[in-house]
Amino acid sequence: NSSQLIDRFGRKVNYLRISITDRCDFRCVYCMSEEMTFLPRAQVLSLEEIYTIAKAFTELGVKKIRVTGGEPLVRRGALELLENIGKLKGLNELVLTTNGSQLESMALPLKKTGVKRINISLDTLDAHKFKAITRTGDLQQVLSGIDAANGAGFERIKINSVILKDKNHEEVVDLVQFAVDQGIDISFIEEMPLGLVSQHDRSAAYYSSDCIKADLTEHFSLIASTEKTGGPSVYYKVQGSDTRVGFISPHSANFCSSCNRVRLTVEGRLLLCLGNEHSIDLKQIVRSNPGDMDILKQAIIDSMQIKPEKHEFRIHEQPVILRHMSVTGG
Ligand code: GTP
Ligand code: 5AD
Ligand code: SF4
Repeated sequence: NSSQLIDRFGRKVNYLRISITDRCDFRCVYCMSEEMTFLPRAQVLSLEEIYTIAKAFTELGVKKIRVTGGEPLVRRGALELLENIGKLKGLNELVLTTNGSQLESMALPLKKTGVKRINISLDTLDAHKFKAITRTGDLQQVLSGIDAANGAGFERIKINSVILKDKNHEEVVDLVQFAVDQGIDISFIEEMPLGLVSQHDRSAAYYSSDCIKADLTEHFSLIASTEKTGGPSVYYKVQGSDTRVGFISPHSANFCSSCNRVRLTVEGRLLLCLGNEHSIDLKQIVRSNPGDMDILKQAIIDSMQIKPEKHEFRIHEQPVILRHMSVTGG
């Protein structure tokens, strides 16, 4: 069954991203401010509510679900939820984005839930820089997590690196070499101005995908690839390896015209675009109409009318969107 979710611009929505917790054991400078507090329990969707909403989406033709956070694997019950979502009829792909901190022990159980591909955030291979960027993270823990994931037999593993000028931009070649050695993929991401962050100057940290590409082509032969994973990445193959290098370029190469996704926030808002506030309150709908799938599905169908055409991020200005990345999962 094809998607019943089509917006005013004719874009078909077949991809749902779900942030299952705003909590995280890291405090990445581009994602959170150091003093951030987390949402009280009552404001957060229960696992059952998340499952119900995911089910409604698959009945409307969504084929791919990506679970994110915060750090999704720190939410109690995350594995059971994944296992249940993975069994939904009509879903082709269940994937996860994680900071890797829990993978050393959770990679195998995670694989058993039916998650096919995982994206692991890793911005640097230098332990000091890792501390500077994640503030509370431990590099070795994440590297062990990547090893464990590699041994667990996922179809594909991808590293996500947010590249920041003078923080980690000199490591792009090393990061690709690491991906090649591990036999995994890597995507480079231009930082997006979401939420007020402290002690981090986004404007000064801007480093474009073109700069990264230029740095890489001095060491690798990158072959343009037509491959798509349903996300915004534009991919290249590293010649002589299995590794694909992706570029996610919200500033230098807007990808909104092919947008196929919406997001469910931790608080149960259905967010129609990462870079805008247009949303509907699915938590309220689910809580006031328990068990009524028709009302829920109709609200989702109707929401397509307010999906914005595109984001208009301005890295050199104060953020317009005050919501932090951690409640949306990127
Ligand atoms: P796949 O293509 O399925 O591998 O996933 P992905 O790379 O899109 O997902 P991931 O969760 O790993 O996110 C990588 C980066 O892409 C994050 O910084 C996201 O915020 C960004 N991203 C994903 N979708 C969108 C989008 O629709 N708009 C914008 N502006 N950024 C996005
Ligand atoms: N801009 C771009 N990417 C971000 N991420 C977190 N915050 C930002 C931001 N402000 C990335 C994380 C993770 C992915 C889901 O989003 O590093 O890999
Ligand atoms: Fe946590 Fe990911 Fe945000 Fe870093 S980017 S603080 S790992 S949610």
